[in-house]
Amino acid sequence: MRLYCTKDYQKMSRKAAGIIGAQVVLKPDSVLGLATGSTPIGTYEYLIKGYQNKDLDFSEITTVNLDEYKGLSRENDQSYYYFMYHHLFKDININMERVNIPDGTKEDGDAECARYESLIEQYGGADLQLLGLGHNGHIGFNEPADEFVKNTHCVALTESTIEANKRFFTSADDVPRHAYTMGINTIMKAKKILLIVSGEDKAEILKKSLFGPVTSQVPASILQLHKDLVVVADEAAMSLI
Ligand code: GLP
Repeated sequence: MRLYCTKDYQKMSRKAAGIIGAQVVLKPDSVLGLATGSTPIGTYEYLIKGYQNKDLDFSEITTVNLDEYKGLSRENDQSYYYFMYHHLFKDININMERVNIPDGTKEDGDAECARYESLIEQYGGADLQLLGLGHNGHIGFNEPADEFVKNTHCVALTESTIEANKRFFTSADDVPRHAYTMGINTIMKAKKILLIVSGEDKAEILKKSLFGPVTSQVPASILQLHKDLVVVADEAAMSLI
């Protein structure tokens, strides 16, 4: 594991964008695994700057996103498709036909998850997977559980995740109760994993994830077993390490 500690959120974002940018330059047809949540927003802003400065060309890039809320369409402003489009895709030269996100409108969850899993399998996993960290240690929407779920699956969100994500909705009642998410093996198949973490409220879970026992009760702890894990965290998130 390689661990970078940055002064603050801006520097974390810049460093993370530098690592993703290097991947894009070295392998212009990379498969990038992308994430939502508030943490990656700054990283995406720096990637857009990289494109505007003509340092980065995304024309041959393929993307696979971690997860999507079940029941939300692309047009719904709370969907992760909408998030990705507005925070990144609309401002770079990505071919939208190479953008992959689970389809939240597909009622048959098993079929949609199987389709998504086999798509990622065809790519041989992401070249680089960006991850944020949930307060309970979730990655994607892999919530603490008695066992790790390997493949893309439909998950019932925990109360703590609904609480944490309600800030994006009018009320907690509006937060979807289910989501489609890459599984632990889908994520671990990535050749490189980039975990970004910011803020004191993530300090305890970051410490548990990186240095505690590997357990499905802290899903991010599995990342300790990945052969190319890079963590970029700000001083506040690193304060207990
Ligand atoms: C959501 C996403 C995760 C993300 C997490 C943390 O639940 N499904 O992929 O990592 O939130 O979000 P934030 O970065 O806003 O703390």
